[in-house]
Parts: sequence; C-alpha cells; structure tokens
Amino acid sequence: MRLYLLLSLFFCFCLAFRKEPDFLIKKCLSNRYTHQSCSKVFCQPWEKCVEGTCICKLPYLCPKGGSSVCSTSHRLFRSYCQLKSYECLHPENKFLINGTCEKKETFTVSLEFGELPSEGIVQVKLVNSDEREYLCNSKWSITEANVVCRHLGHAEGALYHRYSNNSGIQMKAPNCLDVTCRGLESSLSECAFSKRANTNDETPAGVTCYLREVEPPSPDSFKCVNGKFIPRSKTCDGINDCADQSDELCCRACQPGSFHCTSDVCIPEDYRCNGEMDCILGDDESNCKGEESFETQDQGVRQDEVQVQERAQALNDNMDNERRKIKSLLPQITCGMRRITPIRRKRILGGKSAIKDEFPWQVAIKEDNQIKCGGIYIGGCWILTAAHCVRPNKAHRYQVWTGLLDWIKLNPEIQIHKVNQLIIHDQYSASTYQNDIALLEVKKQGNKKECDLPFTTPACLPWSEYMFRPNHRCIVSGFGLEEEFSRVYSLKWGHVNLIANCSKFYSSRFYEKEMLCAGTEDGSIDACKGDSGGPLVCMDSNNVAYLWGIVSWGENCGKPEFPGVYTKVANYFDWISHYVGRALIAQYNV
Ligand code: ARG
Repeated sequence: MRLYLLLSLFFCFCLAFRKEPDFLIKKCLSNRYTHQSCSKVFCQPWEKCVEGTCICKLPYLCPKGGSSVCSTSHRLFRSYCQLKSYECLHPENKFLINGTCEKKETFTVSLEFGELPSEGIVQVKLVNSDEREYLCNSKWSITEANVVCRHLGHAEGALYHRYSNNSGIQMKAPNCLDVTCRGLESSLSECAFSKRANTNDETPAGVTCYLREVEPPSPDSFKCVNGKFIPRSKTCDGINDCADQSDELCCRACQPGSFHCTSDVCIPEDYRCNGEMDCILGDDESNCKGEESFETQDQGVRQDEVQVQERAQALNDNMDNERRKIKSLLPQITCGMRRITPIRRKRILGGKSAIKDEFPWQVAIKEDNQIKCGGIYIGGCWILTAAHCVRPNKAHRYQVWTGLLDWIKLNPEIQIHKVNQLIIHDQYSASTYQNDIALLEVKKQGNKKECDLPFTTPACLPWSEYMFRPNHRCIVSGFGLEEEFSRVYSLKWGHVNLIANCSKFYSSRFYEKEMLCAGTEDGSIDACKGDSGGPLVCMDSNNVAYLWGIVSWGENCGKPEFPGVYTKVANYFDWISHYVGRALIAQYNV
C-alpha cells in the first residue's frame, strides 16, 4: 500500500514535469561556454585561443591574400581578415563592402512600424542602391534576426524573428530581399543578399530585439550566458538562438535536424559534410558519403547551377565564403599521422610488439645505462614526459632515444640525443603526483638551426578536455614491464578505454582536473613500471593521434580495480605552449 502511494506520487510528479527532452548537461553549463570558448568551438580566423577563450588576433597575423574591403568608417583594409581583426579590437569599425572605399557609400538597416525602436519590419538600404527594401519572410530565421539586432546595437540579439503587430503590413514593393547569415556576423552587410521578384503577397520579415527590461523569464526558459532568456525547447537544436551559442554547447544529444559533435555541441545538420570542420574533432566531416571523386563532380554541377542563379540575383559578395577561405589559408602543422596503422600481432602488459613507424612519437629516456621512462615527441626539439621521470640538474645524464624498437637488438633507425634543457612543472607534487609533466629540449646536432629527428612524427596535442570522452578506445605504448616483474626490451602497445569517475577507484588520490584513467574491464592491458612518461594517444575520426595522457601512476599493474592513471594533457596546453611556442603545437585557432 505504501509502495503504491509512493509509486503514484512519483508518477504524478513525472507527469507534472514531463516536457520535451532536455539534453542539457548541468555540470557543463556551469562553465558558461559561448561562441568564444575554444574548448568547445573553433575561434574565428581573426581570433586566437588563449586559455580557453577566443581573443582578437592582431591584423598582421592574418594570412596573405584575399581582396581589399572597406569599413563603415571608410577605411580601406587589405583583406576581410584584416578588417575583422581590427574590428575585434575597435568594434565601431565594421564591414561595409568588398572592394574599395571610393564613394561615401552606406549600408543601413532600420526597423519600421514598431511601437518601440527595438522592433518592427526590417528595411535595408544596400550599398550601391538608393532604394530601401524589405527582407523576405519565407526563409527568415532567428539566425538572421540575431544579426539584425546585433547590427543595431543589441548584443543579445533577437527575442523573436518576427514583430507581433505586423499582420496587417503588406509588402509595398514588388520584390524582396532574401538574406542568409551564419549567425555570428556583427553587421548585416556581411550576410548574403539576393533579390526575389513577385513577392507582393508575402509579409515582410520582422524582428523583436531583446531588451533586458521587457522580458520576464518564464518558468520554462533557459538563461543564455549573455543573460537572454529563450524557451528551453530551443536548446540543443543546432540553432544559435542565444546569439552567443550558449544554448548549443552543453548537449548530451541534439534535437532532430541537428548534428551532435562528440564535444557535446549541436550544429545545424547542413554543416555536416559541407567541407568545413565545425566540431573541434572534425567528426562533422568524417564518414561523408562518397567523399571521393564522384561527390566532387556532383558538387561541381550544383555549384554551377548556383552560380548561374547568383550571377543574376546576388547583390553582394558572400563574406561567408571569404571567412572559409581565410580559415583554409591559416598555417597548419603536421602531427599525429603515421604511415602505417597498428595491426594485431602476438602479444606494455598484455600488449603487442610495435613495428617501425607505428609510434613515431614514442621516445625512450635513458638515464645512465637504463631506459627509465618513455617520452613523447611533440615537435621542434621538444619531448614531453612525466615529471617523476626526471630530476632537475640532471639534464646531462639523460639521453633521448628516437626510433627505438628494441634495446637489445638495436635497429638502424635509432638516434640518440642529448638534453639541452629540462622543464619540470613547478606545481608537480612528488607525493600526490599532481602535475606529473615535464618538458625536455634536445640539443640540436652540430650547428644546425633546427632539430631534425628522422623517423619521428610529433603527436598532436589536445587543446580541449572535450575532444575525447569516456569509453573512447585509445592506445598506450612503452618499453615497460610485461608482467608485474618481467622485463621486456621492446616497444609494446595495447588498447585501453578511457574511464569516467576514476575517484571511485582511487578516492581522494585522484584529481579530476589534472589526471585521467584508462584501462580494460579485466585489467589485461595496462601500463606498468618503466612505461611512465610515455604516451596514451587517442585517434580522431580521421585517424590523427592526439596525446591524451602521459603514463603517470597506478596501484600495481593490470588490476581491474585499479586502472592506470595518466596526466591529463589537455589541461596543460597553455603550460606547454608557454615554453615551446604556440605556433609549434597549435593546429587551429592560431
Ligand atoms: N610509475 C610507473 C613508472 O614509473 C608507471 C606506472 C603505471 N602504472 C599503471 N598501473 N598504469 O613507470
């Protein structure tokens, strides 16, 4: 009887609170991520990522190339990127037009017929045109409405992409303008316009911009990071309703019509396989159907058609294409690629033997006459390892061996490097193993200017803790013990899974921010003594290897109740780039 009562109470409770699926992740929301959070999204090409936030880049860092553009202050810039990075520092300077600043041209947006100045029907006067025109309503969305409001000085964007009293208003003009934006433009002139004829019976597009004072939050609303309230039903749908994207960045799943990035970000479905990476790990651009020649041919046809249409109707240059072009011109580094992928072969602990080129980032650190630890080549002259592997002031006693496969039967690819400099994390704690990370700089050979390490490829460094999730299968490799006490001399590797909530195994010894755990259900594969300082790499969907962890510690080896603990490399991206330079390790957001 009691149970029945409880059950029915529970049932009522559930009914009362049943609503559309809520995909939001609370813990993530507390980080207040926005479109400026580079642990969740890519920065704009005129921004760079510093400590998790996209900040303005100086104009001279823009890639060469592109054509000149004119700003609203009638200043000529060499490229769209130059203007945008200047605007980033001086927001009153906005994009006006592609080309020169010859005439005193203007682009104006105004809201008509509204009761308040912040609402009404959108009217625009384009550059090169004397007429004021209406925007078409049929393809009008909150994405464009947010840009209109931002253009007019409302940073939080639009409340609705309509104006409620516009029912009686008919378009007086015989045609209207279709506009499409990406959503983060600061001026409507950056969006693409095209003219549509015979639209006399279409109601024009309207907008109600968001004003902090007027909108009392409803009980079922979501509070964006910028303070705007939106209906909860509009979160995790791939559409940037908030105007700062905060409604799309902490989603365990996404509503139909949008794509879920592994980093728990929702993007519009049509960003998938569009040739531009939107998810930080590129999962939106992998497994695209018919990626090869046939698709490109197909696209060619489509593009031709679009171009014919556009030549007739497009009224301005599409700055989104320019943005993409700039993005593609940014410097790129090569990392994480290997010429062969590991295959199953005979049997670290429980692992398989590696062959040449399988782990080109793996190095061995030799102290006196012993291979003491592993290490990871990350580019330039730099090796990452665990802090507990090295002692300050002993740099001269270490050697870095690259290309090593077996230190009994030495292979010809091996090179031995002296250590020039040793940097141990200054918060490393030998008692708790917190911040178990160190950098070794190897000496350049002869009077060479650069380090060239043949038969090595740097591992990529993760810049966000959202790149790989628990249960992802990664690879640990090293020269460590085969079983609890049996010494092996060759490089071994094995698959291990990332494990969530590791405190349940190690309680207070595990520090979530700085450490991560990996292992197998039965403990059959694990790192062991001697593997320390070596790599735990995870592959993205294009098979690029990221250094996700550095072998640090564990209770015994290969015990399922005690998984291996690794230094969480993503937490140290800024620490590493401080010493080695951002340009060496940053793949994006530079
Ligand atoms: N600290 C050990 C070393 O110096 C590595 C231990 C890793 N242990 C483990 N069970 N995963 O080599």
